Amino acid sequence: MGDSLLLRNAKLVLPEGVLNDIDILIEDGIVTRIGRGLEAPNGVEILDVKGKIVIPGVVDEHVHMREPGLEHKDNFTNGTLDAAAGGVTTVIEMPNTLPPVENHKILLEKAKRLVSKAYVDFALYGVIHDGNIDEFDEMVYAGAVGFKIFLGPTTGNIPAPSDGTLYEALLKSAKFKVPLAFHAENWDLVKYFTEKVKSTGRTDPKAHTDARPPICEEEAIQRIALYTKKTNGISLIVHMSAREGVEILRRARNEGVNIWGETNPHYLLLTVEDYEKYGTLMKVNPPIREKEHQEALWKAVLNGIITNIGSDHAPHTEEEKKKPVWEAAAGFPGVRTLLPLMIDQALRGKIPLTKIPELLSKNPAKLFNLYPKKGTITIGSDGDLVVIDPTAETIIRKEDFHSKYPLSPFIGWKLKGKIVYTILRGTIIAVEGKVLGGPRGQWIKYSIETIHK
Ligand code: NCD
Ligand code: ZN
Ligand code: ZN
Repeated sequence: MGDSLLLRNAKLVLPEGVLNDIDILIEDGIVTRIGRGLEAPNGVEILDVKGKIVIPGVVDEHVHMREPGLEHKDNFTNGTLDAAAGGVTTVIEMPNTLPPVENHKILLEKAKRLVSKAYVDFALYGVIHDGNIDEFDEMVYAGAVGFKIFLGPTTGNIPAPSDGTLYEALLKSAKFKVPLAFHAENWDLVKYFTEKVKSTGRTDPKAHTDARPPICEEEAIQRIALYTKKTNGISLIVHMSAREGVEILRRARNEGVNIWGETNPHYLLLTVEDYEKYGTLMKVNPPIREKEHQEALWKAVLNGIITNIGSDHAPHTEEEKKKPVWEAAAGFPGVRTLLPLMIDQALRGKIPLTKIPELLSKNPAKLFNLYPKKGTITIGSDGDLVVIDPTAETIIRKEDFHSKYPLSPFIGWKLKGKIVYTILRGTIIAVEGKVLGGPRGQWIKYSIETIHK
């Protein structure tokens, strides 16, 4: 049994529009009534949120919380504490842990291990490479909501599949209606350009960007789009960083291909100019690029070509991050800052407020078959809500992170808006960044009955 709560006078912001002075009743963890002037059932806790924005809890479809096997970088407890503090009520955890999530046994063991530590709800990805395509079905039956396929080199160095395996995986994606999330960089091209740039002797942090030029993404996304079209599979291009990739995505989506695109706050808010300030702290795969790419990404976010925004939460140790450019680890923690950064952009007028629940909640939930249980506020959905004060400010501070290594380029940034409450299935799990209570997150599995009914 979940909890009960009545929110009064919310400014309810959904992709479909904004409604003022709305009451939302959550009973036993589920939204049971939405309306004006609702009667409070006996004994139910009332929270007056007059003047505050209420959106569905964020579904962060892209986190690497490092457990099991990479706990020297961080762990699931810290990661989900940061999620709760940052308005994220569901995370979808990537499979590049140790051992990689490449069969159903490992998936089940990972779920069992994480469930006692989860401060928010979670779902799991499996990974697909040439050695385990036969495990696809079993991982789906065990509960994987999607799969990551690494086409380019990155943390974990999971090898890229052959084109045949890629095609086969997309056929299975179509059959089961599970999405494949692609790290879309061409491995050979990354290797070629990296050697080329390295051979010049460069050691400045921007060398990382020049070693992975846009063509690496363009080629990979083009191939994925073609195979997705031919197989009727479902693809998500994660962490999109380049104008050229957006152009391929635009064409494919206009043709009706079931291909979705994700970008992350760092590509929208940082450019190569920032290497001077942040150095390898902002090293990430794919790399942060020039202003023209950032502008193309913003345009795509606004016109619906990019459909999803996740964090690509990817913590590493200080030692790993501070190495010289070629050896430094790629990625940084992001689940804590995802929503605050995007709300700030909305309150500054860069993006409509209604786009926030669309990109961060509804679309990720839909793509991963979690909707409308997750990703919206409607009768019957889980009572996962975030309450935001649009008149207050947030300064991102090191102390706000639960991460072992809070090495975020956004520390010190001053933002408009403040997350006041995070509510998970009717329970207030965080107040102004302070997490309350213990881990009460649940594992959300793929369900063949619901998805194929
Ligand atoms: C991610 C990580 O560290 O796990 N790093 C990154 O630079 N994005 C891996 C990934 O998403 O490619
Ligand atoms: Zn990746
Ligand atoms: Zn990632």
